[in-house]
Amino acid sequence: MRKITDLKDLRGKRVLLRADFNVPINNNGEVEDIFRIEKTLPTINFLREAGAKTIIVSHFGSKESKSLKPVYLYLEKNFPVTFLEHPYSGANDPELSQMSNGDVVLLENLRFNDGEKNNDEKFAKFLASLADIYVNDAFSASHREHASIVGVPKHISGYAGILFIEEVDNLSKAFHPTRPFLFVLGGAKFDTKLPLIKKFIPLVDNIFVGGALANNFFKETGKSVGRSLVSEGDFDLKELIGNKKIILPTDVVVKNGEEISTKTPDQILPEDFIWDAGEKSIDEIKKILFESKFVLWNGPLGNFEIGFKQGTLNLAKIIAESDVESIVGGGDTLAAIKELGLYNKFSFVSTGGGAMLDFLANEMLPGIEVLNS
Ligand code: 3PG
Repeated sequence: MRKITDLKDLRGKRVLLRADFNVPINNNGEVEDIFRIEKTLPTINFLREAGAKTIIVSHFGSKESKSLKPVYLYLEKNFPVTFLEHPYSGANDPELSQMSNGDVVLLENLRFNDGEKNNDEKFAKFLASLADIYVNDAFSASHREHASIVGVPKHISGYAGILFIEEVDNLSKAFHPTRPFLFVLGGAKFDTKLPLIKKFIPLVDNIFVGGALANNFFKETGKSVGRSLVSEGDFDLKELIGNKKIILPTDVVVKNGEEISTKTPDQILPEDFIWDAGEKSIDEIKKILFESKFVLWNGPLGNFEIGFKQGTLNLAKIIAESDVESIVGGGDTLAAIKELGLYNKFSFVSTGGGAMLDFLANEMLPGIEVLNS
């Protein structure tokens, strides 16, 4: 992979920097979580100090595209930056043509243009025409075959940014782990997580499967899961059932009407919802964790969004307090870490959600492939 740090003379060069500023916003329209933005600052500062003219592009809003203005207002507190609102006409826009060395311009949300998601050749060429060099620091969006990820580097030389390199280097440790290796996998989407279980079984010593993923395993072994969330589909679990490396929760937090209780997975009634892992399960993970040298964690152990957070928060605390090398990531996992203020207590916290999962499953992403070619 070509790296930004290999670039020698950037003075006066125009650099199109693809960042991922798709971050949560609070009710006042301000940036709520600065983690991804802060992680991109080393690349921005590297380019500024090298005297490049940096044009930052990002998407913003996954379901509905929104203005990047709140991100601009946050960036402005860190360094001088100009915001170029949509539509912009190209390299001749005064904000771009009159840039001085070390200047930074942020362009409005890429997804305001349909060409971004469609990986439209014309749009990719247009973006490429704004700069001499392309830098991708949006690891967390590099599972998307969008114009700014895979299209632009076909037209100008592409390099990986500092955060991007850090993500690839750290997540790759899971492919050659220090043993014993504990993998904790939670969340709900069985179809996206099953490939990870299959891929990592030969590499791990233990894999704890939690969240709604565990319900599919309970169901497969003939247990009742009541009204709990189960991913529908034709999943082939035969080879996995009975595998000694796979550990499932031994107790679960259940809601039935207004009543919340802790049960074993054998005690689930037809009206029960399994919503979290119980304390015993967390104690078991703790025991295994303390015998491990490396832990990879992605996904909550309970339904974090509706408030069943305790299992996930307790897990975050025990990993943070341990000396075990830890690599963690995923939307709700990060929400737990943020809630506890524990960002600095893990060896590496990935900015990637879907990108982290795709990279772990395939050891490759479309955004990496194009920087290699
Ligand atoms: C993310 O937040 O996971 C990335 O920014 C990708 O966003 P997307 O799912 O809208 O492509």
